[in-house]
Amino acid sequence: MTTALKVSDLSAQIDGKKILNGLSLEVPLGEVHAIMGPNGSGKSTLCHVLTGKAGYEVSGTAHIKGDELLGLPVDQRARLGLLQSFQYPTEVPGVRLREFMVEAGEERGMDVAELNTRIDEEADRFGMTRFLDRSLNDDLSGGEKKKSEILQMAVLQPKVALLDEVDSGLDIDAVRQVAEAVESMRSPELGVVMITHYSRILRYMTPDRIHVMIDGKIVDSGGRELAEELEAGGYEAVRNRLGIERPSLEPERKPSDYFTETPFDV
Ligand SMILES: Nc1ncnc2c1ncn2[C@@H]1O[C@H](COP(=O)(O)OP(=O)(O)OP(=O)(O)O)[C@@H](O)[C@H]1O
Ligand SMILES: [Mg+2]
Repeated sequence: MTTALKVSDLSAQIDGKKILNGLSLEVPLGEVHAIMGPNGSGKSTLCHVLTGKAGYEVSGTAHIKGDELLGLPVDQRARLGLLQSFQYPTEVPGVRLREFMVEAGEERGMDVAELNTRIDEEADRFGMTRFLDRSLNDDLSGGEKKKSEILQMAVLQPKVALLDEVDSGLDIDAVRQVAEAVESMRSPELGVVMITHYSRILRYMTPDRIHVMIDGKIVDSGGRELAEELEAGGYEAVRNRLGIERPSLEPERKPSDYFTETPFDV
Protein backbone atom coordinates (compact mmCIF):
# COMPACT_ATOMS: atom_id res chain seq x y z
CA MET A 1 0.00 0.00 0.00
CA THR A 2 1.70 3.20 -1.17
CA THR A 3 0.83 6.43 0.55
CA ALA A 4 -0.55 9.24 -1.59
CA LEU A 5 -0.40 11.83 1.17
CA LYS A 6 1.35 11.56 4.50
CA VAL A 7 1.14 14.50 6.88
CA SER A 8 3.01 14.30 10.18
CA ASP A 9 2.81 16.63 13.15
CA LEU A 10 1.79 19.60 11.01
CA SER A 11 1.41 22.90 12.83
CA ALA A 12 0.67 26.27 11.29
CA GLN A 13 0.02 29.77 12.48
CA ILE A 14 -0.78 33.04 10.81
CA ASP A 15 -0.78 36.57 12.24
CA GLY A 16 0.02 35.11 15.66
CA LYS A 17 -2.98 32.73 15.61
CA LYS A 18 -2.17 29.03 15.88
CA ILE A 19 -4.56 27.12 13.61
CA LEU A 20 -3.05 23.67 13.00
CA ASN A 21 -1.79 21.90 16.13
CA GLY A 22 0.31 18.85 15.29
CA LEU A 23 -2.01 17.33 12.70
CA SER A 24 -1.22 13.89 11.30
CA LEU A 25 -3.03 12.20 8.40
CA GLU A 26 -2.25 9.37 6.02
CA VAL A 27 -4.16 8.71 2.80
CA PRO A 28 -3.09 5.64 0.81
CA LEU A 29 -3.26 5.67 -3.00
CA GLY A 30 -6.61 4.40 -4.21
CA GLU A 31 -8.49 5.66 -1.15
CA VAL A 32 -10.98 8.44 -0.50
CA HIS A 33 -10.91 9.98 2.98
CA ALA A 34 -13.44 12.45 4.36
CA ILE A 35 -12.62 15.13 6.94
CA MET A 36 -15.44 16.58 9.01
CA GLY A 37 -14.98 19.30 11.59
CA PRO A 38 -16.68 22.33 13.09
CA ASN A 39 -16.39 25.78 11.52
CA GLY A 40 -13.01 27.28 12.21
CA SER A 41 -11.33 23.97 13.13
CA GLY A 42 -8.69 24.52 10.42
CA LYS A 43 -9.87 22.37 7.49
CA SER A 44 -9.36 25.00 4.81
CA THR A 45 -6.11 26.05 6.47
CA LEU A 46 -4.85 22.48 6.10
CA CYS A 47 -5.52 22.74 2.34
CA HIS A 48 -3.87 26.17 2.11
CA VAL A 49 -0.78 25.03 3.99
CA LEU A 50 -0.42 21.89 1.84
CA THR A 51 -0.81 23.81 -1.42
CA GLY A 52 1.70 26.44 -0.26
CA LYS A 53 -0.37 29.58 0.26
CA ALA A 54 1.89 32.34 1.56
CA GLY A 55 1.76 33.84 5.04
CA TYR A 56 1.74 30.76 7.29
CA GLU A 57 4.49 29.77 9.70
CA VAL A 58 4.60 26.02 9.25
CA SER A 59 6.33 23.10 10.98
CA GLY A 60 6.06 19.34 10.49
CA THR A 61 6.22 17.30 7.28
CA ALA A 62 3.92 16.50 4.36
CA HIS A 63 4.80 14.03 1.59
CA ILE A 64 3.16 13.18 -1.72
CA LYS A 65 4.20 9.67 -2.76
CA GLY A 66 7.33 10.15 -0.70
CA ASP A 67 8.25 13.65 -1.93
CA GLU A 68 8.39 16.42 0.69
CA LEU A 69 5.97 19.22 -0.15
CA LEU A 70 6.61 21.80 2.54
CA GLY A 71 9.07 24.47 1.51
CA LEU A 72 8.41 23.97 -2.23
CA PRO A 73 6.85 26.78 -4.28
CA VAL A 74 3.16 26.37 -5.20
CA ASP A 75 3.80 25.38 -8.84
CA GLN A 76 6.20 22.61 -7.88
CA ARG A 77 3.65 21.18 -5.47
CA ALA A 78 1.14 21.13 -8.34
CA ARG A 79 3.68 19.39 -10.59
CA LEU A 80 4.13 16.72 -7.92
CA GLY A 81 0.44 16.02 -8.42
CA LEU A 82 -1.36 18.07 -5.75
CA LEU A 83 -4.66 19.67 -6.69
CA GLN A 84 -7.01 21.65 -4.49
CA SER A 85 -10.61 22.40 -5.24
CA PHE A 86 -11.58 25.55 -3.39
CA GLN A 87 -14.31 26.18 -0.85
CA TYR A 88 -14.76 29.57 -2.52
CA PRO A 89 -13.52 29.26 -6.14
CA THR A 90 -12.07 32.52 -7.45
CA GLU A 91 -13.52 34.20 -10.52
CA VAL A 92 -10.90 34.87 -13.19
CA PRO A 93 -12.45 37.06 -15.89
CA GLY A 94 -10.66 36.79 -19.24
CA VAL A 95 -9.26 33.27 -18.71
CA ARG A 96 -11.46 30.64 -20.29
CA LEU A 97 -12.00 27.37 -18.47
CA ARG A 98 -10.64 25.34 -21.40
CA GLU A 99 -7.50 27.49 -21.74
CA PHE A 100 -6.94 27.28 -18.00
CA MET A 101 -7.10 23.48 -18.00
CA VAL A 102 -4.87 23.20 -21.09
CA GLU A 103 -2.22 25.45 -19.48
CA ALA A 104 -2.41 23.66 -16.15
CA GLY A 105 -2.19 20.27 -17.92
CA GLU A 106 0.75 21.33 -20.08
CA GLU A 107 2.60 22.51 -16.97
CA ARG A 108 2.10 19.01 -15.59
CA GLY A 109 3.63 17.53 -18.74
CA MET A 110 0.39 16.42 -20.42
CA ASP A 111 0.02 16.40 -24.23
CA VAL A 112 -2.17 19.24 -25.59
CA ALA A 113 -4.11 17.12 -28.09
CA GLU A 114 -4.82 14.50 -25.43
CA LEU A 115 -5.79 17.24 -23.00
CA ASN A 116 -8.34 18.69 -25.40
CA THR A 117 -9.84 15.26 -26.00
CA ARG A 118 -10.08 14.67 -22.23
CA ILE A 119 -11.59 18.11 -21.71
CA ASP A 120 -14.33 17.42 -24.28
CA GLU A 121 -15.08 13.96 -22.87
CA GLU A 122 -15.16 15.03 -19.22
CA ALA A 123 -17.09 18.25 -19.89
CA ASP A 124 -19.69 16.16 -21.71
CA ARG A 125 -19.85 13.74 -18.76
CA PHE A 126 -20.49 16.57 -16.29
CA GLY A 127 -22.76 18.61 -18.56
CA MET A 128 -20.19 21.43 -18.48
CA THR A 129 -19.48 21.81 -22.22
CA ARG A 130 -21.16 25.21 -22.44
CA PHE A 131 -18.83 26.57 -19.75
CA LEU A 132 -15.58 25.67 -21.53
CA ASP A 133 -15.41 28.92 -23.49
CA ARG A 134 -16.58 31.10 -20.62
CA SER A 135 -14.20 32.79 -18.18
CA LEU A 136 -13.09 30.67 -15.24
CA ASN A 137 -15.88 30.77 -12.63
CA ASP A 138 -16.98 34.20 -13.86
CA ASP A 139 -20.69 34.64 -13.12
CA LEU A 140 -21.14 30.92 -12.55
CA SER A 141 -23.64 29.92 -9.88
CA GLY A 142 -22.22 28.45 -6.66
CA GLY A 143 -23.06 24.92 -7.76
CA GLU A 144 -21.64 25.41 -11.26
CA LYS A 145 -18.35 26.58 -9.74
CA LYS A 146 -18.14 23.40 -7.67
CA LYS A 147 -18.84 21.25 -10.73
CA SER A 148 -16.15 23.15 -12.60
CA GLU A 149 -13.68 22.22 -9.83
CA ILE A 150 -14.59 18.54 -10.21
CA LEU A 151 -14.18 18.79 -13.98
CA GLN A 152 -10.67 20.22 -13.48
CA MET A 153 -9.82 17.30 -11.22
CA ALA A 154 -11.12 14.79 -13.78
CA VAL A 155 -9.07 16.40 -16.54
CA LEU A 156 -5.85 17.07 -14.64
CA GLN A 157 -5.62 13.65 -12.97
CA PRO A 158 -3.80 14.66 -9.77
CA LYS A 159 -2.13 12.20 -7.40
CA VAL A 160 -3.67 13.90 -4.39
CA ALA A 161 -6.91 15.88 -4.58
CA LEU A 162 -7.96 18.12 -1.69
CA LEU A 163 -11.66 18.81 -2.13
CA ASP A 164 -12.69 21.61 0.22
CA GLU A 165 -16.46 21.52 0.71
CA VAL A 166 -17.07 20.48 -2.85
CA ASP A 167 -20.66 19.59 -1.88
CA SER A 168 -21.60 22.92 -0.26
CA GLY A 169 -24.23 24.86 -2.15
CA LEU A 170 -25.10 22.00 -4.49
CA ASP A 171 -28.66 20.96 -5.25
CA ILE A 172 -29.70 17.40 -4.35
CA ASP A 173 -29.01 15.97 -7.80
CA ALA A 174 -25.64 17.73 -8.03
CA VAL A 175 -24.53 16.32 -4.65
CA ARG A 176 -25.19 12.84 -5.97
CA GLN A 177 -23.44 13.67 -9.27
CA VAL A 178 -20.34 15.03 -7.50
CA ALA A 179 -20.24 12.06 -5.11
CA GLU A 180 -20.51 9.61 -7.99
CA ALA A 181 -17.88 11.54 -9.94
CA VAL A 182 -15.43 11.32 -7.03
CA GLU A 183 -16.14 7.58 -6.70
CA SER A 184 -15.68 7.08 -10.45
CA MET A 185 -12.29 8.81 -10.30
CA ARG A 186 -11.01 6.35 -7.73
CA SER A 187 -7.78 4.92 -9.04
CA PRO A 188 -4.66 3.24 -7.69
CA GLU A 189 -2.87 6.46 -8.74
CA LEU A 190 -5.01 8.86 -6.70
CA GLY A 191 -5.70 9.67 -3.06
CA VAL A 192 -8.61 11.98 -2.22
CA VAL A 193 -9.21 14.13 0.87
CA MET A 194 -12.80 15.32 0.88
CA ILE A 195 -13.76 17.98 3.40
CA THR A 196 -17.47 18.10 4.08
CA HIS A 197 -20.01 19.29 6.63
CA TYR A 198 -22.74 16.97 5.49
CA SER A 199 -23.16 13.26 5.89
CA ARG A 200 -25.65 13.64 2.98
CA ILE A 201 -22.87 13.23 0.40
CA LEU A 202 -21.72 10.07 2.18
CA ARG A 203 -25.01 8.41 1.16
CA TYR A 204 -23.77 8.35 -2.41
CA MET A 205 -20.17 7.42 -1.80
CA THR A 206 -18.16 5.26 0.55
CA PRO A 207 -15.07 6.93 1.95
CA ASP A 208 -12.48 4.46 3.17
CA ARG A 209 -12.08 6.54 6.31
CA ILE A 210 -13.73 9.47 8.01
CA HIS A 211 -11.61 11.79 10.16
CA VAL A 212 -12.87 14.28 12.69
CA MET A 213 -10.87 17.48 12.99
CA ILE A 214 -11.20 19.64 16.08
CA ASP A 215 -8.97 22.55 17.12
CA GLY A 216 -6.44 22.01 14.35
CA LYS A 217 -5.87 18.29 14.60
CA ILE A 218 -7.43 14.96 13.71
CA VAL A 219 -8.95 13.72 16.95
CA ASP A 220 -10.71 10.58 15.73
CA SER A 221 -10.86 8.38 12.63
CA GLY A 222 -13.23 5.61 11.69
CA GLY A 223 -15.90 4.48 9.30
CA ARG A 224 -19.44 5.56 8.49
CA GLU A 225 -20.44 5.18 12.15
CA LEU A 226 -18.47 8.35 12.95
CA ALA A 227 -20.56 10.38 10.50
CA GLU A 228 -23.68 8.86 12.05
CA GLU A 229 -22.50 9.82 15.54
CA LEU A 230 -21.94 13.39 14.33
CA GLU A 231 -25.33 13.49 12.66
CA ALA A 232 -27.01 12.37 15.88
CA GLY A 233 -25.05 14.24 18.55
CA GLY A 234 -22.98 16.88 16.77
CA TYR A 235 -19.36 17.62 17.67
CA GLU A 236 -20.44 17.88 21.30
CA ALA A 237 -20.91 14.08 21.34
CA VAL A 238 -17.41 13.47 19.98
CA ARG A 239 -15.92 16.04 22.35
CA ASN A 240 -17.63 14.39 25.31
CA ARG A 241 -16.61 10.88 24.27
CA LEU A 242 -12.98 11.94 23.84
CA GLY A 243 -12.91 14.31 26.81
CA ILE A 244 -12.04 17.35 24.70
CA GLU A 245 -12.92 20.63 26.35
CA ARG A 246 -15.05 23.11 24.47
CA PRO A 247 -12.99 26.03 23.20
CA SER A 248 -13.08 28.88 25.70
CA LEU A 249 -15.86 31.26 24.77
CA GLU A 250 -15.84 35.00 25.36
CA PRO A 251 -16.71 35.64 29.01
CA GLU A 252 -20.40 36.38 29.33
CA ARG A 253 -21.06 40.12 29.46
CA LYS A 254 -23.68 41.97 31.42
CA PRO A 255 -25.63 44.79 29.78
CA SER A 256 -23.84 47.24 32.08
CA ASP A 257 -20.53 46.29 30.42
CA TYR A 258 -21.87 47.96 27.28
CA PHE A 259 -23.86 50.82 28.83
CA THR A 260 -21.69 51.96 31.68
CA GLU A 261 -23.87 54.94 32.56
CA THR A 262 -27.05 52.88 32.95
CA PRO A 263 -27.51 50.51 35.86
CA PHE A 264 -29.31 47.80 33.80
CA ASP A 265 -28.39 44.85 35.91
CA VAL A 266 -28.44 46.22 39.41
N1 LIG B 1 -5.15 35.40 8.52
C1 LIG B 1 -5.76 34.95 9.62
N2 LIG B 1 -5.59 35.59 10.80
C2 LIG B 1 -6.18 35.16 11.93
N3 LIG B 1 -6.98 34.07 11.96
C3 LIG B 1 -7.18 33.40 10.83
C4 LIG B 1 -6.59 33.78 9.60
N4 LIG B 1 -6.98 32.89 8.64
C5 LIG B 1 -7.78 32.00 9.25
N5 LIG B 1 -7.91 32.31 10.56
C6 LIG B 1 -8.73 31.58 11.56
O1 LIG B 1 -8.33 30.22 11.59
C7 LIG B 1 -9.42 29.38 11.93
C8 LIG B 1 -9.52 28.24 10.95
O2 LIG B 1 -10.01 28.70 9.70
P1 LIG B 1 -10.35 27.70 8.52
O3 LIG B 1 -10.83 28.52 7.37
O4 LIG B 1 -9.20 26.80 8.28
O5 LIG B 1 -11.55 26.86 9.16
P2 LIG B 1 -12.47 25.72 8.52
O6 LIG B 1 -12.33 24.51 9.38
O7 LIG B 1 -12.18 25.58 7.07
O8 LIG B 1 -13.93 26.35 8.75
P3 LIG B 1 -15.27 26.26 7.84
O9 LIG B 1 -15.92 24.96 8.18
O10 LIG B 1 -16.09 27.42 8.35
O11 LIG B 1 -14.89 26.40 6.41
C9 LIG B 1 -10.64 30.31 11.96
O12 LIG B 1 -10.92 30.61 13.30
C10 LIG B 1 -10.18 31.54 11.20
O13 LIG B 1 -10.85 32.71 11.65
MG1 LIG C 1 -13.25 25.92 5.35
